[in-house]
Amino acid sequence: MIRHQQLVSGVAGLALLAIGSAGHAASGEVAQGKQLFEQNCQVCHQADAIGKPGFAPSLTNKELLSIGSDKFFMSTIRDGRTGTGMPPFAHLGKKKIGAIVAFLRTHEKLPNRAKEVDAEPASFGDARKGELWFNEICVACHGDKGEGYGAGVVGTAIGKSGFLNKVSDGFIRETIKHGRSNTRMRGFSGADGLANLRDSEIEDVIAYLRSLGDQHNRAR
Ligand code: HEC
Ligand code: HEC
Repeated sequence: MIRHQQLVSGVAGLALLAIGSAGHAASGEVAQGKQLFEQNCQVCHQADAIGKPGFAPSLTNKELLSIGSDKFFMSTIRDGRTGTGMPPFAHLGKKKIGAIVAFLRTHEKLPNRAKEVDAEPASFGDARKGELWFNEICVACHGDKGEGYGAGVVGTAIGKSGFLNKVSDGFIRETIKHGRSNTRMRGFSGADGLANLRDSEIEDVIAYLRSLGDQHNRAR
């Protein structure tokens, strides 16, 4: 948010006075990030990073930006997601990856809650019960073992370690509860959810996802 405000005032300062070096640095970083995005990411994530179902997720989705920490974005971009279509971009280096994240953050519409979400307690669920829910509800969009697009489905590879090793249980919990606007991922909590899962049932699903990550880790 602070970065965003700096940017807004930086752009205003630029237009009015063409002075104010801090503002220039911030808007320069965002402009560089936009260009790097267009060169490296747009081919899959589409213009304005709106994503394409079954091909690449939206990166400007407001819920994702709100709960994803800079660490999550930086490390996902650096390492990619092994066994999915998301390649690693370590060769760009930390500064350029940081510029891309700064560009993505200009699409923020909700307060950044990443810190509080990552500090949420770990799941206390039962993986065996979670497996039943997963098979009933999630498989249709995420694949039998959460393989993602490779299985011909619209959802990402949530059973693979490239995702699981980068996110907290809070990140998974918030996503299951509230979903992601304007994507096929609707929330599973409350009457207008895709299914109304109780909190304890969501914990079970998280525990099952964690067990899938272990299997993939062992397989490598
Ligand atoms: C060849 C296609 C391709 C390119 C190029 C690509 N990505 Fe991806 N990206 C993907 C796919 C596919 C996924 C989802 C992987 C999965 O199933 O988990 C993804 C996932 C992501 C995620 C995780 C999003 C989420 O919802 O958790 C981030 C962040 C991301 N990409 C950023 C980038 C950035 C930044 C670039 C450019 C530097 C980039 N990607 C380039 C295909 C691509
Ligand atoms: C109707 C299809 C659909 C169903 C059913 C569904 N999802 Fe999703 N899910 C998606 C899509 C699509 C995305 C990626 C959003 C995007 O493309 O930007 C997603 C994203 C996610 C993410 C974030 C993954 C990432 O890469 O950041 C999690 C976690 C998730 N879903 C968990 C679940 C769980 C658990 C269930 C079952 C309780 C479930 N989903 C059911 C379509 C679905």
